[in-house]
Amino acid sequence: MYSKILVPVDGSQRAALAAAHAAQLARHFRSQVVAFYVVQPLPGYVNTNDPRIEEVLQQISARLEKNAIEVLEQVKQEMLKNGVEPATKFVWGHPADEICREAHEGRYDLIVMGSRGLGEIRGFLMGSVSNRVVRHAPCPVLIVR
Ligand SMILES: Nc1ncnc2c1ncn2[C@@H]1O[C@H](COP(=O)(O)OP(=O)(O)OP(=O)(O)O)[C@@H](O)[C@H]1O
Ligand SMILES: [Mg+2]
Repeated sequence: MYSKILVPVDGSQRAALAAAHAAQLARHFRSQVVAFYVVQPLPGYVNTNDPRIEEVLQQISARLEKNAIEVLEQVKQEMLKNGVEPATKFVWGHPADEICREAHEGRYDLIVMGSRGLGEIRGFLMGSVSNRVVRHAPCPVLIVR
């Protein structure tokens, strides 16, 4: 059971909690684990003849990718402490859509994710990403709060 688990992470405390839970499950079921980060593209509406701005946008993109790699590495190190060695993967796109696509194409058996993430808006039990994944995922979803 649960031979392949997808663990979407965004660098938040909740996602780290979910990853720790996923590691326990993975140890129990001897599952293959993939920690997954979706980098959101910058808005495409910036239209300017100033090459400096283009340069800055490229710097931000590079920085976002670097952050993705750092977040995934940190999750990996935490899981290793629990005796689980996850693969890591990041893609560019819309978080919920890419999480569901990865779950579908990679034939995962379970998604383990946080109820909330980095979002600032208080008062909601679930964020927009976890909400959308629960509704569209091709497999069971375990929400950790
Ligand atoms: N960019 C992302 N890549 C991978 N997983 C993500 C990403 N964003 C969120 N997640 C996953 O979804 C969980 C819930 O985060 P979500 O973004 O839904 O909540 P939020 O940030 O509090 O709210 P919102 O983003 O709607 O303002 C996170 O704990 C994490 O597991
Ligand atoms: Mg969020």
